[in-house]
Amino acid sequence: MTSKEREKVILVTGATRGIGHAIAENLANAYPLIITGRSEDALNALKKKLNDNGGKVEAIAADLTSSNDIKNLVESSIRALGRIDCLINNAGMGIFGRADQINEKDFRYVMELNLIAPYQLTRAVLPDMISRKSGQIINISSVAGLNGFKGGGAYAASKFALNGFTESLREDVKEFGIAVTAVCPGGVRTEFGGNPASVREFVLEPEDVAHTIRYLVDESETANTKLIELKPRKRTEFR
Ligand SMILES: NC(=O)c1ccc[n+]([C@@H]2O[C@H](COP(=O)([O-])OP(=O)(O)OC[C@H]3O[C@@H](n4cnc5c(N)ncnc54)[C@H](OP(=O)(O)O)[C@@H]3O)[C@@H](O)[C@H]2O)c1
Repeated sequence: MTSKEREKVILVTGATRGIGHAIAENLANAYPLIITGRSEDALNALKKKLNDNGGKVEAIAADLTSSNDIKNLVESSIRALGRIDCLINNAGMGIFGRADQINEKDFRYVMELNLIAPYQLTRAVLPDMISRKSGQIINISSVAGLNGFKGGGAYAASKFALNGFTESLREDVKEFGIAVTAVCPGGVRTEFGGNPASVREFVLEPEDVAHTIRYLVDESETANTKLIELKPRKRTEFR
């Protein structure tokens, strides 16, 4: 890890498994990290593995549907590593079904985790980034934030909204030199949506998404990639 890279502190949400886990594994050899998720065991196991390999990683458990947990997460992160230079809003989930079949509680929960939590985290980290006139926010959205699909009412709504939030946030903070990016992957081989990772055929690997995130984190301080739509090379659907 170079001393320059050491200076950029990154908070990764949803790091206990799937894409967030791969992002943490990719970034830990170059950047100090705060990893978060609800599962303390998974967080501590990942923290130990990354630190044993020379990383500088702190683990702070949080349920991102709780405003108190979000407040505590940001305060504890700053206490532990001094500041947050880059926020990666990756934690998310999907509950699927036609509008008359998905219940309101589930619909609200999807919006809470996929949209309100990134907003609350952004709100918490932004004042410090603005005062330092530097920072980066990366929102893991989805191709479902660009295209609707059968049964995707709640999930696609949350990701379209996250993209709208991301686009507007970039305009809000461009004068302060803060980069804001939406990343929209197609299917990724994880246990997302309750699917065993093994059942999917033509999909991205979590490491593919992590590689793209690494590109964004390494991007020059004068550039801002707005949105990346990332597809598996080999696929059957036409879009
Ligand atoms: N997999 C795909 O096909 C795909 C495609 C496009 C976009 N995405 C997006 O990529 C992101 C990551 O998805 P994934 O496939 O890696 O999913 P995943 O394997 O199910 O992992 C989800 C992560 O989010 C965390 N999480 C879930 N609920 C949480 C809560 N209430 N509070 C805090 N953390 C919570 C989980 O940790 P804990 O359970 O420990 O809390 C876990 O680390 C999501 O935003 C998803 O929408 C996924």
